[in-house]
Amino acid sequence: MGGPGAAVLRAARGAGQLSQRRGFSSWLARWFSKAPAKAVVAQKTPIKVELVAGTTYRWCVCGRSTKQPFCDGSHLFQLTGLSPLKFKVQETRTVALCTCKATKRPPYCDGTHRSERIQKAEVGSPL
Ligand code: FES
Repeated sequence: MGGPGAAVLRAARGAGQLSQRRGFSSWLARWFSKAPAKAVVAQKTPIKVELVAGTTYRWCVCGRSTKQPFCDGSHLFQLTGLSPLKFKVQETRTVALCTCKATKRPPYCDGTHRSERIQKAEVGSPL
């Protein structure tokens, strides 16, 4: 097959591939150049949950999950550059997990949510 029609078709396909590559490379550039977003205050009080021995949990680090205190994948969709904290417990027990995302003992509440800084912050605002 040849002729001017084939040449036009090849050129159009090539342009399409090029624009797809540019789109992907610019997406990659955005992904890698983006500094991790700051965590946001999800709530201002901890959530008590029963953790089962041997189960792996993923605590939301970014504060954007709608399934607090656990991760729902929002950190990926919103390109935060943050990752959930995976953890396991040795024995089944009820604990208070942090939702303000300012704890110094993640994933557990350490009382930081009572600070003036957190109590004055808007829910959803960066730390
Ligand atoms: S909820 Fe974050 S320290 Fe208590």
